[in-house]
Amino acid sequence: MHKLTIKNQREIERMRQSGKAAAHVLHRIAEAIQPGISTAELEQVAKEATAAVNAIPSFLNYRIPEHPPYPARICVSRNDVVIHGIPNKHEKLHTGDIIGVDTAVKLGGYHGDNAFTFPVGDVSPQAQRLLDITKASLYAAIAQAKPGNRVGDIASQLQTVAESAGFSVIQNYAGHGIGRHLHEKPELPCFGTPERGTRLRTGMVLAIEAMVNAGGAEVECLEDGWTIATTDSSLSAFFEHTVAVLSDGPEILTESPIWIS
Ligand code: MF3
Ligand code: CO
Repeated sequence: MHKLTIKNQREIERMRQSGKAAAHVLHRIAEAIQPGISTAELEQVAKEATAAVNAIPSFLNYRIPEHPPYPARICVSRNDVVIHGIPNKHEKLHTGDIIGVDTAVKLGGYHGDNAFTFPVGDVSPQAQRLLDITKASLYAAIAQAKPGNRVGDIASQLQTVAESAGFSVIQNYAGHGIGRHLHEKPELPCFGTPERGTRLRTGMVLAIEAMVNAGGAEVECLEDGWTIATTDSSLSAFFEHTVAVLSDGPEILTESPIWIS
């Protein structure tokens, strides 16, 4: 994880552009999601959409400790997969599935990162509730992203909203600062205590990630070395926005029509 950086106005403006590019790619994927499409075809949509905005995919060949280089531009996490599912031509979407799509791009030297979990056709009321609560937890967390607050204020919102609904949050993975590097400090866990942790300052940019399991919190890594799934096979949802901490409050840099419901 790279060091914490504070962005000036000019850098924030650039990150508005990279956020917009990342949101564009996710929006294009949203339009392609339907029963029968494969996750490899969604990767192809990401490839074309990323090129269309002259951006560079952030995930392709990305390395994190103890994993092989990541082989795609998006992560596709279906049903009990939490994060980091790899696109595959044999994996098709079916009515009733939920499919998390995570994508980040680099534009003008800065990264933008976002994720959304989509229902495929009609889904069960339980699945829809998981999506609604996880998305609500992300927005409650974003509301805390203002100068003077602390990382714990964001983290505790993620935890409280999910756990109040009877769900559990992921312990082993976290959101992150973002800028010239995809992963900068501070680390943003999905659980925590209000008024604790790193203090938020004007000019920080945060990739806030809400990762919620319908069942237990325990997860395991599959044999491909990347895919993280729930141990109890319960459904899992993931939403992420890139957010600038500004003097007049949080500004979401990855907003797009997919979020308006
Ligand atoms: N949005 C996730 C993260 O920031 C996805 C990382 S996938 C990887 O951790 F391929 F880039 F590792
Ligand atoms: Co991220």
